[in-house]
Formats: sequence, structure tokens, C-alpha cells
Amino acid sequence: MPSFRPPLWALRAAIVSFWRDEAAPRFWPDGILLIDNGHVAAIGDHSELAPKLPAEVRVEHFPDLLIAPGFVDAHVHFPQIDRIGAHGAQLLDWLERYIYPAEARLSDGDFAKDLAKFFVAELLRHGITTALVFAASQKQSADSLFAAARAKDMRLIGGQVLMDRGAPDEVLVPAEIAAEQSSALIRKWHGKGRLGYAITPRFAVTSSDRQLELAGKLHSRFPDTLVHTHLSENPREVALVRELFPDHRDYFDVYARHGLAGPRSVFAHCVHLSDGEWRDLAKAGSAIAFCPGSNLFLGSGLFDHSRARRMGIRVGLGSDVGAGDSLSPFAAQKDAYRVGQMRGDNLHPFDAFRMATLGGAEALGLDHLIGGLEPGKEADFVLIDRAATPLLARRLRSVADKSWSADLADTFKSWSADLADTLFALSILGEDRMIARTYVAGRLVHRRASPRRRLPPL
Ligand code: GUN
Ligand code: ZN
Repeated sequence: MPSFRPPLWALRAAIVSFWRDEAAPRFWPDGILLIDNGHVAAIGDHSELAPKLPAEVRVEHFPDLLIAPGFVDAHVHFPQIDRIGAHGAQLLDWLERYIYPAEARLSDGDFAKDLAKFFVAELLRHGITTALVFAASQKQSADSLFAAARAKDMRLIGGQVLMDRGAPDEVLVPAEIAAEQSSALIRKWHGKGRLGYAITPRFAVTSSDRQLELAGKLHSRFPDTLVHTHLSENPREVALVRELFPDHRDYFDVYARHGLAGPRSVFAHCVHLSDGEWRDLAKAGSAIAFCPGSNLFLGSGLFDHSRARRMGIRVGLGSDVGAGDSLSPFAAQKDAYRVGQMRGDNLHPFDAFRMATLGGAEALGLDHLIGGLEPGKEADFVLIDRAATPLLARRLRSVADKSWSADLADTFKSWSADLADTLFALSILGEDRMIARTYVAGRLVHRRASPRRRLPPL
């Protein structure tokens, strides 16, 4: 466990962040972010804040980088990282052909430990500082995940996958044993440092009634855990759940009647919900992990993010790797935009950026701690290189070209059209190279090796 926290220090750069309860992000073209003991101590304009800083405060200046809150991946599977980009199947066949065999490999404890370390390093390299993560069905896979996140002091919520039917024996664990193991994991990891536990039934297809019942009981015994599962991702899956649970009103009802649908539940996908399920989910106060990259890759369908927004449902963005084909939060925003376009409903760049940061924190019930850079919050943030690639640098130079401005203001319907266009271009051209540095709790945990090209300040 790292014992160190840097003393009071500051960064000077452009800064963008959402604030709780505000519709548009705040933006400082030349800002100061002051860090104290792993938390944000102050944020503001350099010209105002700098004169007030004690003389001994070290200020690091990054004139052509952009500071943003660390990104939140609201749904991802660490054991699937080796099977990212598996060709030619939709959900149920993909699980059988690629995923269950990949997850069976985590019976090897050394393999699980190595994979967890690699996964956590990749999250940080992509600028993700918080994630809600499926482990595999072996208890040790969850232990490996938590240990790897703890070593980086990263805020992460994870859980052992519960599955006791409908899949190969190698990945099944009987309901009673798995509930006992999950309970031990909760006692060991939940609330330890920055870690949290999510009770994680894979989906209704691979859990017996008994297993769902035990999962619900576990959640009522530990009510501040999350519940994390899949819901209504693919039409064949929905039909199968109807066959397996003929006495339930619908898919959502299977979880609800087992005590698994409440304000601390996060449901991945929700692509094919009925009107009644939308209503029930909103009434339960549950959150959704929108996984556009996965939904496009597996051909699952198009999530209706506007409907979720209208209904006041909390929504975070999930990569859903290995069904998703990228861990990049920029790729997730781009794919969310594409899904909107396919529905004739284009997503504003501020809404995409919000879902990738504060929205994800809200979905995970962590928005009082992370997701933005308000003073008092944990200092999880990234430095984004706006010139990470020649094309990105060129595209962002066009933002400053005032011959476009009138169009931009109209397009983005915002006082800060330049910022909207910058965030949009970052999401469309974005990838891991754009993350120059990642900090968790004020500590540098990733620094990109390659050199940067210079840009004029924002
Ligand atoms: N539904 C049940 N298991 C999975 C999984 O591993 N990935 C996705 N995308 N959907 C699932
Ligand atoms: Zn998933």
C-alpha cells in the first residue's frame, strides 16, 4: 500500500470539469488546480489564484495540456481483456465461443494476478481512474483485481461473478458456495481504502432462482454494496429470460423480485427495455451503464440515451471490454454519438463528456467523492494532450479559426461553442495517446513516453 501523498502542490493549465447540479462544464483557459493531501484544495483562474498561493507551493506549468477529471468506466470485464476484438458472433454465441473459455483461465491464480495488474495499468493508461468491474466466477479473480487496484490506490468497485447454470462447468460455482465467497470478499475488501464491492450476478440466464435470491439477501445484509449485472442487451437474450422465468412480468422484474433492483443497482445495456421496464427502473432509482462500443461491436442494438435523460435516470458510460473494442473513454463518447446518430438523436459533446466523468460517478453513487474537480473531491485527474497526433492538432487549430465560429455557436447552442467543439473533436479523434498523464489521489500513476507537439494555448 503506498504510504505517500505529495504535499501541497499545484498544476497550471487549461482545466475543464463538470460541477454537480450544473448543466454545462466549467472551463478555465489558464487555470490552477491546487492539490492538498490527495484532494482538490482549490481551482480557479491563474491570474486570481496564483498571487494567493504560499511561496513554497510548487506549480507545474503545462501550457498546451488540458486538465480533466479522471474518467469513469461504468461497466467493464477484466478477465475478457485477452479476447477483445473477437470476430463474428452476437451475445449468446460470443459468450460460448470466446468468453467462457477465457474466464475459465482465471482458475490459474498466477495468470489472474498478472492479468489484473495488466488491466489496472491499461485503465490508468487510458485515463480511467474509477471503474465498475466484473471479475470472473473464481473468488481469486476478484481478490487479484482488488489487490491490483489497491496497489495503485485506485478507486474501483468490483465483484466476483455469480453464475450457477447455463454455461460450461468450469465457470460455474454452486449458489451457496458463491454467496459464501462473495460475503468473504465483501468483508475483506469493501470500504478498504478506495475499494468497493458490487454483488455481481452475471445475468438472469446464468443464475438459478436460488442464486438470485441469495444475491438479494447478501445485498440486504450489506446494503452499501452495489448490485451490478446485465439487463436487456440482445433480443435473443431477452427471449431466453422470458422462457427461463415464465412467472415474471419481464426481465427487470426478475431482478426486482429478488431484491436486486434499487438505487444502488447498475444495469449494463438496457437496449431493449419495454415501456414498463423503463418506468420500473426509473421508479426503483437504479442506474444504467450505457455501453455503445459493445452494443455496436456485438450488434446488440441502439440505447435510447435521451429517454433515460428525460426520465431522470443516472447514466454512466461503460467500455464493456471485451465486448467493447476499446478502453478509451474518448472512444466511448464517440460511439455514444454514433448510436445517437443512428437514432436521429445527436448527443451534445457536453452530455457525452459528462457521462464519461460525473455521470459515471453518479451511476456508481460516488459523485460526492469523484467525477469532477470541485474543492474537497479526491484528486483523480488526467492531462490531455491536444496535439497527441498531427491530425488532432490540425483539427483543434480549426476551433480557433474564427471564420467557423458563427456555425459553431449555432451547432452547439452554447456560450462555449469552442469548448464544445474541442471536446467533440477530442472524442471523435481520441485514443490512448491523448492521455499524457494520469493522477490518482494526487499521485502520478501514468506518464506517456512519447513527445508532444506544441499548440497555442486554449
Ligand atoms: N451478458 C452476460 N455476460 C455478458 C458479458 O460478459 N458481456 C456482455 N456484453 N454481456 C453479457
Ligand atoms: Zn458486460
